[in-house]
Amino acid sequence: MKTAISVDVAQYLEVKKRLNYNKACKTFKFFPHKTQQIIIDTFQEGLFSCMSLVCGRRWGKTEVISSVASSEMLVPFGSVLVITPVFANAKAIFEKIERRLLDSKIPIKSKDSKALTFTTAYNSKIVVATPKSIESALGFMYSLIIFDEAQSITDLINIFENYLEPALADFGVNEETGFFNAKTVFIGTARDESADLFKIVLRAKNKKKYAGYVNFTMKTEDNPYIPKSFLATKRRELDPITFGREYEGIWSKLNNSLVYYSFDSVKNVISKKEADTRLAGKGIVIAGIDMGYSDNFACLWAGVEPLTGKIIITTEYRQNKTPIEIHHKNLIKHEKNLTYGKILRFGDPSAPQVMSDLSYTYKYNIIPAINDIDEGIQLCNQKFYRGDLLVSEECSDLIEELTNMVWKDATEKTVARTASLLHFDLALASLRYMIITWAVQSNMQISVV
Ligand SMILES: Nc1ncnc2c1ncn2[C@@H]1O[C@H](COP(=O)(O)OP(=O)(O)OP(=O)(O)O)[C@@H](O)[C@H]1O
Ligand SMILES: [Mg+2]
Repeated sequence: MKTAISVDVAQYLEVKKRLNYNKACKTFKFFPHKTQQIIIDTFQEGLFSCMSLVCGRRWGKTEVISSVASSEMLVPFGSVLVITPVFANAKAIFEKIERRLLDSKIPIKSKDSKALTFTTAYNSKIVVATPKSIESALGFMYSLIIFDEAQSITDLINIFENYLEPALADFGVNEETGFFNAKTVFIGTARDESADLFKIVLRAKNKKKYAGYVNFTMKTEDNPYIPKSFLATKRRELDPITFGREYEGIWSKLNNSLVYYSFDSVKNVISKKEADTRLAGKGIVIAGIDMGYSDNFACLWAGVEPLTGKIIITTEYRQNKTPIEIHHKNLIKHEKNLTYGKILRFGDPSAPQVMSDLSYTYKYNIIPAINDIDEGIQLCNQKFYRGDLLVSEECSDLIEELTNMVWKDATEKTVARTASLLHFDLALASLRYMIITWAVQSNMQISVV
């Protein structure tokens, strides 16, 4: 049975049939590289409903997707919806599309640059929305939906299936192929496998249930405009999991995996003697402190090796259920042995009361630390991987936490707990505070990605 379609849609389909993406790209002065060409060809063939496009950074996704969207705007009543986690993210795509249309001399009829929307003389339009403002985008029909930075849209599948998929049906189904005339693209970067985007990627493998899904995974190295030396440096600097995720589109496993996966108890652990020799009583001491008022208290001290800047953790203190004055006494006792240099202490920023008590009552000064969990963990992993972060064998509590800390649950990735440990992740919190705050303080570049 033929489904009824509106006059607008009929006009759209008539012109769309003749749309030549390659020619359109030429008028935009966009010359796709090899794997971008695959995406253009796939759009030309139209044998899909939903495409997931997982790319390494700088692969060229903004370039290719804005060309596809601009081509769509050449068709009367073509309508593009871009959904992005944060409104400002969409600006790059929006502006690129606008530029391309100006370049090809398509008159723009009305424009609202604040709301990121415009309509052309062909009655084609583009609208930008975030998951929060999605309601405002409903009630219209769309011939192309683009989810940008889809890995960061937590509610991706719900938003797509419950809000948007019904609006795609308005453009009808291709009688020959059975696929929607309207298309959806999910573009993003690989993360861990808990992301909704990963589920969309998997659908492409299940043709029985999800016939209209296709997936492409693209590596940064495909882009000839990115210098090879840039990638070589990144490959050297980053641990393999981070490199794979950011530059090769490889999803990382999460469930039951170690949080500090780069920590190697052979490579990163050194004897007390070696630590003492390498620091030789010189250089600066940094400390990370995780504080509770009367319980849960941990501190780590490290020396920064002169010349190399490597961080060597020499001393630890981890104690529960102890009043603050006792903690203070213990901290001082530990610091007596650290005869070299000045001490910089970075403390849990969520415990200002304890911090000010220690500062004012005991003249024990602590700087509030940076508490970005994900970034802190990543930075520690990178330093362990490069051998820039070493632990003295004396710090057995820290070593125990490092080797036991696993993700509790793939969907709660920031809540990592060592179920078997009495003191949970106290030393690890101290570690994060120390490493990330020192990185910023010492003006080191944090090359997280
Ligand atoms: N076909 C092309 N021709 C010329 N330059 C290109 C092409 N594709 C990509 N580039 C260039 O490569 C760089 C990265 O492209 P683009 O910004 O589209 O990548 P991206 O995947 O969106 O990057 P990011 O991960 O930073 O968002 C840009 O400088 C862009 O101009
Ligand atoms: Mg981009």
